[in-house]
Amino acid sequence: MTADDRALLEAAVAAQQRAHCPFSRYPVGAAVRTVQGAVFSGCNVESASFSLTCCAERVAVFKAVSEGHKAIAACAIVTSDGKPAAPCGACRQVLYEFGPEMRIVLGNPSGEIRIMNLADLLPEGFSQEHLLSHSGDADCCD
Ligand code: THU
Repeated sequence: MTADDRALLEAAVAAQQRAHCPFSRYPVGAAVRTVQGAVFSGCNVESASFSLTCCAERVAVFKAVSEGHKAIAACAIVTSDGKPAAPCGACRQVLYEFGPEMRIVLGNPSGEIRIMNLADLLPEGFSQEHLLSHSGDADCCD
């Protein structure tokens, strides 16, 4: 693990303290590092209308994008107990769109660490390129 990984995990741990998870009681913290070195963190924010919940990873990505950073180099994710958890499918998709080759660092409070690449978690990902390269003349869209 690099010093950058360690710093990103620490930002994720700090964000996890702010998780709003009264329904699942499963706090998650995430932090993304942009290619320029800026760090944005997020926690899961649950809703009483359960499906409106937003995962920690997407909160972190949306914070980065809304501050003008669209190229993400790494994402650290911290869960509570059990083995370190990889991002859910929805978050893999959103992460992919801002860094298809990003480094993923997973941690838990016991100090277990797993490091992987998003490309291994989401092979053959769907992206903006697919939309930009299609002809747009399908007649079923009218
Ligand atoms: N959660 C995340 O924050 N990230 C994931 O990748 C998986 C799940 C949150 C959503 C919900 O608040 C809680 O964990 C239980 O699913």
